Amino acid sequence: MTQLIDDFERVVRYVRISVTDRCDFRCVYCMSEEMTFLPRAQVLTLEELTTVAKAFTELGVEKIRLTGGEPLVRRGIEELVTNIGRLDGLRDFAMTTNGAGLVKHAKALRQGGLQRLNISLDSLDESRFKHLTRTGDLGKVIDGLHAAQDAGFERIKLNAVILKGRNDDEVLELVDFARREGVDISFIEEMPLGDVSDHSRGETYCSSDDVQAAIETQYELLPTTETTLGPSRYFRMPDSPSRIGFISPHSHNFCATCNRVRVTVEGRLLLCLGNEHSVDLREVLRRHPGNIDALKSRIVEAMSLKPERHHFTTDGDVQVVRFMNMTGG
Ligand code: GTP
Ligand code: 5AD
Ligand code: SF4
Repeated sequence: MTQLIDDFERVVRYVRISVTDRCDFRCVYCMSEEMTFLPRAQVLTLEELTTVAKAFTELGVEKIRLTGGEPLVRRGIEELVTNIGRLDGLRDFAMTTNGAGLVKHAKALRQGGLQRLNISLDSLDESRFKHLTRTGDLGKVIDGLHAAQDAGFERIKLNAVILKGRNDDEVLELVDFARREGVDISFIEEMPLGDVSDHSRGETYCSSDDVQAAIETQYELLPTTETTLGPSRYFRMPDSPSRIGFISPHSHNFCATCNRVRVTVEGRLLLCLGNEHSVDLREVLRRHPGNIDALKSRIVEAMSLKPERHHFTTDGDVQVVRFMNMTGG
C-alpha cells in the first residue's frame, strides 16, 4: 500500500476533517462575534467527505477525527459518521465537539461507529462559560457529556484552552470535575489563528508548565508514554483512571513527531495548522467525480508541501489569517 510520507520522513496516519465552518458557539479564541459563513456550494457534500475519508484510509490513515466549526450542526452528520465508520482500515474514529448537540446525537453517533469524543469545556462557571463561548450554555454541554457516557462512549476527553486572567484559576476545579466524571482532560495553549478581535490575546498566554504546576499543588502527576497519536503529552494520577494531557504548541513543540494533516471545510488539504500550504481536493473531486485514484494521487503529491514545523508566537500576532473554525483545530 502507498503510504503518506513527507520530506522529513514523518508518516501521516491521522486526518482531521472539518465538516462545517458553522457553530452555535462563538468562543473568544476561535471566532469573532460577527462571522460570515461559506455558501453551501463551497462546502464538501456528504458524499465528497466520505470519498475523501476513503481515499485517506486507502493510503494508510488509521485515525480520522471529524471537526468543525461544530460538527454536530452539519445536517446529515449521523449518516456521514455511519458511512465513514464502515471504512476498512480505520482504527480510531473520533470527533471534537462543543458538546451542546450530544443529547440529541450521541446515541446515533455511537451506533454509527464513532469511537471517541473530545468535548471542549473551558469553565464550570455558568456566567464565565457564557463569556468565553458568547452563546454557549454550560448546562447543555454537561447534559451532552452525560448523554455521551450513557451512549457507551469510552475514554471521553475534555479540552480546556487556558487563558490567563480568564480561566487559569479554574484548572484544579476542571481536574476534579474530570476525575468525578471518569474522563480525561487536556489543557491547551491558545494559538493565534484568525483575527478574533480579542485584543488581549498576547496577554492571555498561559503556558502548560504553569497549568501543570497548579495541578501539582494538589495531585501527583506521573508521566506516561500512552498516546492517542495526537499532540497531547499525558500524565496519570496515582488514585484515578483519568489522564491529564497538555497540548503545548508554544512551550513544548511537537512538530517533529507530527503524524497528521487536515482537510478544511472547502476541501483544501492543509499540511499544517500553523501555515497556509495546501492543495485543492475539491477541484479533483468535482472534475473527476468518483475517481478515487485521481484524489489519492493529489494527496500523495501534497506530502512534499508539509513544512517542518509551525511558527506560532505568544505575543498576540496573527500569522495565519484563517479562522480556527475553517480547520477545526
Ligand atoms: P486525541 O485524538 O484525543 O489525542 O485528540 P487531539 O488532541 O488530536 O484532537 P483535539 O481535536 O482534541 O485537539 C486538541 C487541540 O490540539 C486543539 O486545540 C487542536 O487545535 C490542537 N492540535 C491538534 N493537532 C495539532 C497540530 O498538529 N498542531 C497544532 N499546533 N495544534 C494541534
Ligand atoms: N487555540 C487553541 N485551541 C483552540 N481551539 C479553538 N480555537 C483555539 C485556539 N485559538 C480548541 C477548541 C477545541 C479544539 C478543536 O480546538 O477549544 O477543543
Ligand atoms: Fe465553536 Fe469550537 Fe470554535 Fe468554540 S472553539 S466557536 S465551540 S468551533
